[in-house]
This record gives sequence, structure tokens and C-alpha cells, in this order.
Amino acid sequence: MTTFEDLKTFISSQKMRVIIAADAETVVLEKKDGEVIQRLLSGGVSVVLDPLAKASSSIYIGRAKTEDEKKILGTKGETKVESERGAYILKRVYLENGEFENYYNGFSNQTLWPLCHVAFENPNFHRLWYEGFVSVNKKFAEAIKNEIKGNTFVWVNDYQLCLVPKFLNKPKNTTIGFFWHIPWPTWEAFRILPQKKEILESLLMCDFIGFHRGYQVRNFIDTVRREFEVRIEEETNKIYYKGHVTTVKNLPLGIDTDIVSNIARKDKKEGTIDILIKKILRTDDEGKDESPYIEYFRKYKVMLGVDRLDYTKGLLLRLEAIDRFFENNKKYIGKAIYLGLMAPSRDTIPSYKELKEKVEVEAEVINRKYGKNGWKPINLIYKTFSRAEIIDFYLHASLCLVTPRDDGMNLVSKEFVMAASFSKNPGMLVLSQFAGSATDLSQALIVNPYDKNEVVEAIRRGLEMKRDEKLRRTRSMAKVLEENNVYKWGIDFFQNTIESKQPTKE
Ligand code: G6P
Repeated sequence: MTTFEDLKTFISSQKMRVIIAADAETVVLEKKDGEVIQRLLSGGVSVVLDPLAKASSSIYIGRAKTEDEKKILGTKGETKVESERGAYILKRVYLENGEFENYYNGFSNQTLWPLCHVAFENPNFHRLWYEGFVSVNKKFAEAIKNEIKGNTFVWVNDYQLCLVPKFLNKPKNTTIGFFWHIPWPTWEAFRILPQKKEILESLLMCDFIGFHRGYQVRNFIDTVRREFEVRIEEETNKIYYKGHVTTVKNLPLGIDTDIVSNIARKDKKEGTIDILIKKILRTDDEGKDESPYIEYFRKYKVMLGVDRLDYTKGLLLRLEAIDRFFENNKKYIGKAIYLGLMAPSRDTIPSYKELKEKVEVEAEVINRKYGKNGWKPINLIYKTFSRAEIIDFYLHASLCLVTPRDDGMNLVSKEFVMAASFSKNPGMLVLSQFAGSATDLSQALIVNPYDKNEVVEAIRRGLEMKRDEKLRRTRSMAKVLEENNVYKWGIDFFQNTIESKQPTKE
């Protein structure tokens, strides 16, 4: 098994400076009772980049998420992030008024995001968004250039920064790796993007491009082949374009197994979930002492959902399947509940606002249909929880439903299984075949989220599965997760990128 220390040793043996650039920062600075605190994020890709930044003592460049950060940090925007594992410098890129709208809400999340996910959500195209996207990518590239000194490895993370390689323009002694975390669609879908050539040309300036799954690599290579005159070496996936070589490969992302295991081990104390649920109620339902949720966790089987509120996550399809589950399995009425923890996300974008309304309406309809004596089947909480809190939910749930329409990888499913493996009676995972993680988590109950009957049957099977079988499946998946953790992924990405780099011509 690869350890965090292995990753650290590998990187230090390469004798290179590491710069990681990602849209999202790893910690957000906040003022609490007059003191500045670093709030760790609870999920998402940046959480996984934190151990990599620590292992490489890197410079991490991320967008400041709040206005407060500028006030706290001043124009330089630097903080040190430190734990017993190591430290790194986190540098913020501040966006001007309007830049955030065009770069983040616009081109990143209303053009590229729907274009790349098969969720049947139309991408929108606006010249202004793209201009904003260009200017923010330039800002990131400038921030990176200021940090390049000697032999430097630049890790550019995800679709929001896909023009950064173009603006870096291959500086000397620099190795550039790009990781694309969302799906890469088929050429037929990608070809409608007006700026497709600029984006592809920028990516082809990297030494290496990583994707999670093989089909994403194949779609990317097919897209490149159809758009440009390129030479492609089939066995190695090396793309030769305009005198530069880029290698493309699938490297499925793993999780920070040490951190998840440590929290899961610690938080097994009885009663933690009650305190947590009470806390939720205090914010959601002020004044009420007696919480129906406390009863729920004691009395009922909890089917858990943990998602960003995003149309790719298949939330409406999931609710429809739960409706049919109660319809077909009446014995669970009054005995099981769905608890949906929905993290607010991109919430000023119209399609996200509409989805929230639709989800709430659907939940209400189902609750009216089956609810009785204070019991209601659908319980939704629109709030961001801490990592420890989420892991506590994982430990207590009877089932976890991860049913996206399309997802590059999906870390909730992996963290759920890892945490559940510390439970004496783990919950079962129902997982969409369209999540990248379905290949790694083959012992989960794999479903097509569009096939309601299949989802209903998986829910029933998961709830009724014998403890021994759940333990066997969960432990075997946890083993796969430990063997393919984020430390191994980090080494693979560094190694592949370094090996792909061709010696620069003098
Ligand atoms: C996906 C993307 C990440 C992004 C995350 C959260 O996983 O691939 O790049 O950070 O969603 O999205 P948000 O827009 O809230 O940062």
C-alpha cells in the first residue's frame, strides 16, 4: 500500500519546485470572535489536493472564495497551511467585479460543465463569459509564472483553468501536468463549442493530461483527431501536435484514506449523531427541543444522500425512485427515511435555482403521499457540513444513494465505503453506473439511475442485505480504496508527467 510518506519521499527525490493551481482553495479564512480561522472544506477535489500540497511543500494557487479573505490577507493573499503532515503556501487569486460572474458562473459552469456532462442540460454560449474566462485564466497563469524558479512542476487542476497552459506558454525548465476531473464528452457533443480549438490547443501545450476513466481518454483523443491534423501513437497515447508531445492517460483519483479512517475511528462514540442532528435542528428549526430526527436515527433505517445540489447528481430521478420504492414496498412506510444532505452550490445560476425548487416540490409531494404520525419519508437539509459530521452520517446510515446522471469520478461514494468499513453493521452503497467510481467500487449495488425499477430493487436489496454480506462487500471495496489511495494517484500523476516531458531543444 502506498503511504503519505512514500508520496513525500518520491516528490523530494525529484528535486523540483511544485506549484499547484486550482479554481478552489483548500481552506477558507474566516473571522470568528475576532480571530482568523482556517476553515477546512468538507468535500470536493481541493480537499484531495491538500495532502499533495503538503507532501510537496508546494505553492498552491487558488481563487479566493470570499470577499473577507482580501480584507484579512491584503493584496498579497498568502497564508501558510500547516498540519503535522507538512505545510504549504496558499496564494489567492482575487477576482474583480464581474470576473467571477463570467468566469465561474458563466463559462465554467454554464458552458463547459453542461457541455461535458451527459445530463441533458443545455450549455449556454456567451462571448462575454468567454472573455471573462480568458482574463481569469491569464491571471492564474501570471500568478504561476511569478512562482516559477528553477526546475518547476506545474500542476494545473481541472476545466476551470483549461486556458492556463496557453498563457504559460511552456516556460523553460518547467514540466506541466493537467488533470481534467469532469467527463470528456464525445466529439459530437464537444464540437459545438465555439472556442473548442483554443481550449484543445491550450491543453496540447501540457506534457501530460490525466483523466479518471479510459472512455474519457478515448473521447479526448477522438476529439483531437477530428479537430486537428495530429499524429497519435496508439500504444502510448502520445499526441504530436505543432512540434510538441502530450501524453494522455487515465489515472483514477483515490481518496485520503488515512484522514477518513482516522475520523471514522474516532467518531464511533455513541450519541454523536444525536448531537449532530440536534445541532442541525437548532439552525433549521429554531426553538424546538424535541427533534424528530433523533427518533429517526434510533427507530428508522436511514437512506442517505450526500450531494452538491447539482443537476448532474440525479436528485429528481432519485426522489422518483424512492417514491416508487415506498409504493412497491409498503412495509417500509413509517420504517425508513431518506435523508438528503444537499450542499449549496453555484446557487445563483438559474438552472441550479430551478433544480432546488423542483427537488423541494417533489419531496413535498412524496411526503404528502406517504407521511403519517409525524413520520415523513423525505428529509432534506440544504447546508454544508464539516468532514467529521459527514463521516458520522456515513457510519450510521443503512444505505447511501449515489446516483448521478454523469460524474467524472465521485468521491462521496468512495469516502462512504471507507468510513462504513469501520462500522460493525455497515450501510450499503447504491451507485450509478455513470459515476467514474463505479469501476473501482464493483461490490456496490450498481444501477442505471434512469431505470427506476432497478434503483427500487437495489434499495430493497441494500436494506435487506445480511450483515455478513455487507461486511464482505464493504471490506473488499475498502481494500481496493486503500490500495488505490490519493498518495498513489499523486505519485502516478507526477511520475507520468515527468516521464512524458521531452527534453527541450536549446
Ligand atoms: C467538481 C469539479 C471541481 C469542483 C467541484 C466543486 O468536482 O470537477 O473542479 O471544485 O465540482 O464545485 P464548485 O463549483 O463548488 O467548486
